[in-house]
Amino acid sequence: MRKLLVTGGAGFIGSNFIQYLLGRKQEIELLVNLDLLTYAGNLENLKSVEHDPRYCFIQGDIRNRALVRKLFDEYGFDTVVHFAAESHVDRSIVEPELFLTTNIVGTQTLLDVAKNYWKIHPEDKYSREYRPGVIYLQVSTDEVYGALGRNGMFTETTPLAPNSPYSASKASADLIVRAYHETYGLPVNITRCSNNYGSYQFPEKLIPLMIHNALYDKPLPVYGDGMQIRDWLHVKDHCAGIVAVLEKGEVGEVYNIGGNNEKANLEIVRQILKELGKPDSLITHVQDRPGHDRRYAIDNTKITTHLGWKPSYTFEQGMAETIRWYLDNLDWVEHVTSGEYQKYYRKMYLLDT
Ligand code: NAD
Ligand code: TYD
Repeated sequence: MRKLLVTGGAGFIGSNFIQYLLGRKQEIELLVNLDLLTYAGNLENLKSVEHDPRYCFIQGDIRNRALVRKLFDEYGFDTVVHFAAESHVDRSIVEPELFLTTNIVGTQTLLDVAKNYWKIHPEDKYSREYRPGVIYLQVSTDEVYGALGRNGMFTETTPLAPNSPYSASKASADLIVRAYHETYGLPVNITRCSNNYGSYQFPEKLIPLMIHNALYDKPLPVYGDGMQIRDWLHVKDHCAGIVAVLEKGEVGEVYNIGGNNEKANLEIVRQILKELGKPDSLITHVQDRPGHDRRYAIDNTKITTHLGWKPSYTFEQGMAETIRWYLDNLDWVEHVTSGEYQKYYRKMYLLDT
């Protein structure tokens, strides 16, 4: 029976993960979702589990050490799955500091509290003995490896070379997780996944933003030539990958999780327009993102061969299901795109006159 602390569980991947886990795993005794509810967090994502007796939501900040310590004391977690982060590259370009405090200091706070709570002799700095079965899982990103040219793929041993304030903050967090394992023996895993897509993704990211704009016949803002490549992973396949690491991962190891599914941005935008029966003339090339990474591609050999995980969605199937979800959930889209989102959108795409 597991007692989990899930951080950032009201965001896109975290909320999919909570629904996935509580839906499939009876051996979960307790799952506490700690989320600050920033613009990206939305409790509407979790309606299907809010009455599950194993589930509990706490609104709070991962940087609040006293709160995190109190939650460990109260609930006795044996597992941490850390999703909470500032996650959008474009926002990190205009507001880097927030990314450093949330993504780096937030991670270190969780690690520190977990270490002190799980260590059998917390006062002994040489002791590496922990309560049995405890694990801290850091949800990271392939963006920590930097950008690829036409060829090659990221493996778990590719050197870290992040290019944006977002990816630099995630890489820093990964190094701190590594340091807690090496120095204190804290049982950890790091997962690094490629770009996720699926239901409940906030429409500031490529796929939901383009679906949303196409639905309302608004221009689709493609950065630069639109030939940047991402390796798309369905969020449910990502959740299954995280569960595989929790259940079978070797302590201290990093696992890449990728969908074997490289697509150029323009290809995706065209596919969305086709599925929605909208004209290609909505595509509008806008100024490129500064420091824009050209290509990401994940080599997922380690997780597929060592843990037996593999992606189950084809991109065609996943995209059709995702577009259908947005069409069936226009209320959700309306709620998250009102107010603050409108201001963000105008500022980000320089629409204010
Ligand atoms: P998201 O932006 O949708 O959700 C982030 C969640 O974290 C939100 O619910 C927000 O309220 C919460 N949060 C932010 N700051 C917090 C704080 N200080 N304390 C507590 N909660 C806080 O992000 P996502 O797309 O679901 O990504 C989840 C994780 O996966 C992140 O760590 C991200 O770096 C990583 N990741 C995402 C992708 C992707 O394609 N979305 C790809 C690779 C890795
Ligand atoms: P995004 O979803 O922001 O993810 P990431 O930057 O973490 O990969 O962007 C995916 C790709 O889509 C990236 O190459 C940037 C591009 N993009 C656009 O062309 N226009 C947009 O409006 C957005 C949000 C992204």
